[in-house]
Amino acid sequence: MPFKEGFLWGGATAANQYEGGWDEGGKGPNASDAMTNGSHTSPRQVTWRDTVTGETGAVPVFTVCEQGLAESREIAVVDGYYYPSHVATDFYHRYAEDIALMGEMGFKCFRLSINWARIFPNGDDAEPCEDGLAFYDAVFDECAKHGIEPLVTLSHYETPLHLVNAYGGWKSRALIDLFVRYAESVMKRYRGKVRYYLTFNEINMMSMGSFMAGGLIDGSPEAKAQGAHNQFVASALTVKAARAIDPAIKVGQMLAYSPVYPYSADPADDLLAMERQHEALWYADVQVGGYYPSYRLKEMERRGIELEMGRDDLELISTYPADFLSFSCYGGSTVSVRQQELEAASGNLALGMVKNPYLEANAWGWATDPYCLRIALNTLYERYRKPLWIVENGIGWADEKEPDGSVHDAYRIDYLRKNIQSMKDAVEIDGVDLMGYTMWGCIDLVSAGTGEMRKRYGLVYVDRDDEGNGTLERSRKDSFFWYQKVIATNGEDLD
Ligand code: BG6
Repeated sequence: MPFKEGFLWGGATAANQYEGGWDEGGKGPNASDAMTNGSHTSPRQVTWRDTVTGETGAVPVFTVCEQGLAESREIAVVDGYYYPSHVATDFYHRYAEDIALMGEMGFKCFRLSINWARIFPNGDDAEPCEDGLAFYDAVFDECAKHGIEPLVTLSHYETPLHLVNAYGGWKSRALIDLFVRYAESVMKRYRGKVRYYLTFNEINMMSMGSFMAGGLIDGSPEAKAQGAHNQFVASALTVKAARAIDPAIKVGQMLAYSPVYPYSADPADDLLAMERQHEALWYADVQVGGYYPSYRLKEMERRGIELEMGRDDLELISTYPADFLSFSCYGGSTVSVRQQELEAASGNLALGMVKNPYLEANAWGWATDPYCLRIALNTLYERYRKPLWIVENGIGWADEKEPDGSVHDAYRIDYLRKNIQSMKDAVEIDGVDLMGYTMWGCIDLVSAGTGEMRKRYGLVYVDRDDEGNGTLERSRKDSFFWYQKVIATNGEDLD
């Protein structure tokens, strides 16, 4: 058996893309509630209001940090825009139905995020919101009914909006204590119900998607470095708190990680690939390894970045590293020093990447890479020697529902089959210690990068379109039945 007994097969979601009920049950707005829809060709925007003139407007999410906002402006939900997170695919009202579908597929694990602003509506409130806490109680009870273990992300692009506007997001050290208080409230409340937590989704997105990952409006290298550092300290303190609350709790890091391939055999391409790897790996060196690596220290020195440090920060980071390393991996990325002469890769965060001629891509430029998981698992396991967990992997596609409700998504089955085979090889051939696999977006949800519904990842189709029309009715895709069989055979039968 390649996969150990109790291997955590399942699916992954995030509150801001799935939950909806954005202003119900006492929840406050979070940063992604102010993000509009977009598409592959037009970027998502984040909206603002001028506190002096009342004027409103929008700037692209991926450049808001670089552009900054005038001092009188704050990020806000305003009239005249469509915000896909507000209803998303309505897990808030349909959790029982959805968890039953997961149970039917045989899920052992369900990754979801707790919406921080559902527990602390402003992020700095004196007391947690009881309605918010009760909602997740009901969700976890439903999971238990179906024998499903929850894996909870504490912050998946969901910084409470007040913390963005009043504190400047994770740039401020004040967020460390606010986050730890939130994490402690949650871990205490769900003691015995939730054993696995991740602190920050794709923590290394602080570098490229700083508004989403860190609630930053300031895109300076100093702000990004400080934002990441503050999250490392908050993670270490969360590990410390978990030990005190319940030693059975395991807290993991969550990294966006994919192998970086040199386009050619030119050693200069290989060197570039190594540098690109470093851009992600230093985050794991700190949060899992417990130390700032030399190449990152040197880079900060060259750029004149000085961190605002607490006296115990480095000790906390080395004493309380993450218990395991989880990561998202959709496919490798390819780089070349001859980038200008080559076709650029598309895809959300493909800046500086070139198209890989050996891989076939979907309509958004994301490719099916049959070896990425094996390569990624080997790199990470050899480097950190900690248990690994693939918490995101999958392919977005504009699925079509047939009149009889069926969805024939052979392309998704092909993608998942190749990827699962690749992780199976890492376990069987290379002996990597793998805890689980939660494929991304198990029930259709909003795309984080584009805000679209039509970029679907699910095994379950949800009737909802890019303008917010549709019944939200669920139907099983062909991949639903295929994955059910994979789980039932513990990964033996991938046909
Ligand atoms: C990861 C994120 O980057 O990729 C998810 O953690 C996201 O939130 C997923 O949805 C897929 O990206 P996209 O842009 O296709 O939704």
